[in-house]
Amino acid sequence: MAEPFWTENRFLPFSGFLCYLVGFPFPMKKIAIINGPNLDRLGQREPEIYGRSTLADLEQALRAEVAGKEVELEFFQSNHEGAIIDRIASLAERKFSGLIINGAALTHTSVALRDALLGAGIPAVEVHISNIYRREEFRQRSLTAPACLAVITGLGLEGYHAALRFLLKR
Ligand code: DQA
Repeated sequence: MAEPFWTENRFLPFSGFLCYLVGFPFPMKKIAIINGPNLDRLGQREPEIYGRSTLADLEQALRAEVAGKEVELEFFQSNHEGAIIDRIASLAERKFSGLIINGAALTHTSVALRDALLGAGIPAVEVHISNIYRREEFRQRSLTAPACLAVITGLGLEGYHAALRFLLKR
């Protein structure tokens, strides 16, 4: 019996190109999740404020949320300002489509982090696990918020999910 014409070997060399053409309007979305200083100790650190889930739990839950979708998630945590700034620059180079950032304490202090976000130009959502406006006065000021599209604060880890959904819908 004759094969359907599209399975014939002579079309094989073009199949990659065809997939590229079909996929072209729907490129894989790449979203980064960056967590700043002390968030590596999530689950152990002040659990009455930040809860008992760990960063690994968060990663697992966010990965489960995008399972089967054309989405790539990249997670990064550092206690070092410069490492976070280098990572943001690398996301811009690698054409990431969105960034979820919890700069932790750097939120309130780092002009360098704000400049990195502005310079990268990646649509970013700032997330805080706790409600920074219900806490000490020094936490109620964010230097990085003006460099982000939105801020989610006080929803616990749910804030990261909300940010992810928002960035994926854009
Ligand atoms: C935090 C709030 C910051 O003030 C604090 O320094 C953190 C965590 C939050 O997620 O609620 O480390 O960003």
